[in-house]
Amino acid sequence: MGSSASVLNPDNDLLDLHGKVAIVTGANAGIGYWTAAHLSKRGAKVYLACRNESRATGAITSIEAWNTSKDRGSLIYHHLSLDDPREAKKSAEEFLAKETRLDIVVNNAGLLASPYEKTKDGIVNTMVVNHLSPLVFTHTLSPLLEKTASEPESDVRIINVSSLMHSAIRAGQTKFDSIDSFNARYEGSWVPPENLKRYGLTKLANILWTNTLQKQYDAKNVPITCISMHPGGVLTDSALERLKQSAIPRLRIAISRLFADEPEQGSFTTLFAAASKEIAKDKGKYRAKYLAPYGKIVEPSKLAKDETLANNLWGTTQKVLKEIYGIEV
Ligand SMILES: NC(=O)c1ccc[n+]([C@@H]2O[C@H](COP(=O)([O-])OP(=O)(O)OC[C@H]3O[C@@H](n4cnc5c(N)ncnc54)[C@H](OP(=O)(O)O)[C@@H]3O)[C@@H](O)[C@H]2O)c1
Repeated sequence: MGSSASVLNPDNDLLDLHGKVAIVTGANAGIGYWTAAHLSKRGAKVYLACRNESRATGAITSIEAWNTSKDRGSLIYHHLSLDDPREAKKSAEEFLAKETRLDIVVNNAGLLASPYEKTKDGIVNTMVVNHLSPLVFTHTLSPLLEKTASEPESDVRIINVSSLMHSAIRAGQTKFDSIDSFNARYEGSWVPPENLKRYGLTKLANILWTNTLQKQYDAKNVPITCISMHPGGVLTDSALERLKQSAIPRLRIAISRLFADEPEQGSFTTLFAAASKEIAKDKGKYRAKYLAPYGKIVEPSKLAKDETLANNLWGTTQKVLKEIYGIEV
């Protein structure tokens, strides 16, 4: 398996992860579920950071039935709600109180294209769930990530699951320079429809923030690898639900079945980013890169590489978090 090969073989291409600790957000379903399953199969102790305990413990039972090997790493539920950055911070603080190392963070949980809705704090829900809360969660975990990275033979990775939909946002359609730009509605957009466009905005933020985070670690000489990626089109239950609600659902589902991956294979790009031997051999090549299936480095959109936009996003994120939520990052 190389960076340009087509399919990943998790049993051969991933590192031995015994002794390593991983967090996968949104691991009770879809891509996150299979990411957690294969990381634990390689020996990692995996925390399933989820908002619903029974869905998470149900997923753990199911993964344990899928892989009954004694060699498997343990699977543990950790409560995380991304509905409010304050809750994300609390969740990360609780994690810091119970673990002594952290090797892999996969920010996978996400709100797919949704109706326009603002939270009680006045920020659009997709921006909170997909950008602000994962950022606060990761920054709060950072002291433990940095401590782990300072240990010999460490290979600490932060993976932000973005989407090809980031490219739905074109030049001139965001500056990320105000709360209003976070709350952009894209009303009247047809191709793609406005809810997909708003989702794309958050996925653009994922890539820009990944690159900023990498720069921040590089400036401190902290050897952490930050990667953003698109998992491919994946027919998860929630993706299927959305197709059912679309125009001409049967046709769209039939077409998706032809081209989309099943959830297990849909986790392969995330797994490549989080734990591949290939990246361990040449971390520098992968820092702040954007990957497409199944681990190929590709160029994201022009906006996703725009440093001014990345700086604006960081500045507005800091301001919003401080002024609205009382959180400093
Ligand atoms: N599927 C695709 O084709 C595709 C394509 C490109 C990118 N992606 C990205 O891949 C990632 C996973 O997608 P998926 O298709 O596997 O999605 P999914 O099956 O809908 O799973 C999403 C996960 O995120 C969790 N989540 C949602 N809102 C949350 C919140 N407020 N707080 C905490 N957890 C929350 C869900 O928890 P509950 O079960 O409790 O709701 C679930 O565990 C997402 O970031 C998505 O943007 C997917």
